[in-house]
Amino acid sequence: MVLSNVADYRTAAQRFLPGFAFSYLEGGAENEITLRRNRAAFEALAFEPRVLQDVSVIDTRTMLAGRPATWPAVVGPTGLNGIFRRHADEALARAAQAAGLPFALSTASTSLLEVVRDVTDGDLWLQLYVQEDRRIAENMMARARAAKFSALLLTVDTPVLGQRDDYVRTGFTMPLRWTPRLVWDIVTHPRWLATVGIHGQPKLVNLSRSAQLGAGIEDRMGTSTHRMDQTLNWRDIAWLRAHWDGKIFIKGIQTVEDARTAFQHEVDGVVLSNHGGRQLDGARSPLDIIAQTVSYAPRSAEVLADGGILRGSDIVKAVALGARGVLLGRAPLYGLAAAGQSGARDVLALLHNELQTCLRLLGCARLTSLTADVLASHGFTACDRRR
Ligand code: GLV
Repeated sequence: MVLSNVADYRTAAQRFLPGFAFSYLEGGAENEITLRRNRAAFEALAFEPRVLQDVSVIDTRTMLAGRPATWPAVVGPTGLNGIFRRHADEALARAAQAAGLPFALSTASTSLLEVVRDVTDGDLWLQLYVQEDRRIAENMMARARAAKFSALLLTVDTPVLGQRDDYVRTGFTMPLRWTPRLVWDIVTHPRWLATVGIHGQPKLVNLSRSAQLGAGIEDRMGTSTHRMDQTLNWRDIAWLRAHWDGKIFIKGIQTVEDARTAFQHEVDGVVLSNHGGRQLDGARSPLDIIAQTVSYAPRSAEVLADGGILRGSDIVKAVALGARGVLLGRAPLYGLAAAGQSGARDVLALLHNELQTCLRLLGCARLTSLTADVLASHGFTACDRRR
């Protein structure tokens, strides 16, 4: 089967993965209102293309966290990737590097950050969850600094995991509980069983190493989720800075007010995000607040956004509204699950191609010239008024 877009990879991922793993990848919180809203926000925006522009050469390059990127995207942090493929974080890091993009490794990764660094000399970022025992985060930051990770994404929308009804439905728990339903789910996905399942449950090795616990997946319940530090607050940015001398982004900002507070704390950027619809159901789409957030951002601060990006044109819309770039969560995971590293690479290549096609059709040769003028509700002038 020829896989022509992200949706095709999603279908292939669904075929490959047992139901519990696919719904972990795919699902949102509660009624999935926010999950749908993320997509609806993109679909509601219409383009106003300009014609007879010279689009023979398209330039998608930009700067992310102060470093050059081939196009405005980051392979975003997602936890437990090892349930999709073996050596999943390494595969995503390599695919990101091949695409000229940064890769953000999750605190809840199933590969050690040092091992991921060993397979790539590309730009690596660390997503940070802060547990009650602050020494865990401090240790992880020290390890990431030593491994030359360049940026930290402090995730702030997860004092507790959102309610994911699907986990109850599919019997997804960590560690997995061997119910007849789960056994059936697994044996009916023999390709996954033979390539992933047979090797045993993936472990949250990164977190375990910093927590100096065993590498059992059950550690997740003790250290990542149940004991997330719910006292974390704005004053802790100073604590973070004392332990991290690289770029600092706050990920999970959902209001313009909080973005302004983040800028007052002189962070390097914010990620407008509702965690892909997996946390607070009913939250708005990040797309709705990009333009206003950017209007308050100091020149040096980068505004990134994520949630529901499945086409190159979605990236164009976010950038046209003022985002420096986007984080990709599910899209590269569909590729990864469907075909391993080459699938992740293909998905990134598809998105980059779509991005270039979209810019050509819009009559905008240079990504950094995009403005909201290419969007219908924002007027009718071409993307680069100076041309
Ligand atoms: C964890 O961050 C998740 O979204 O499952």
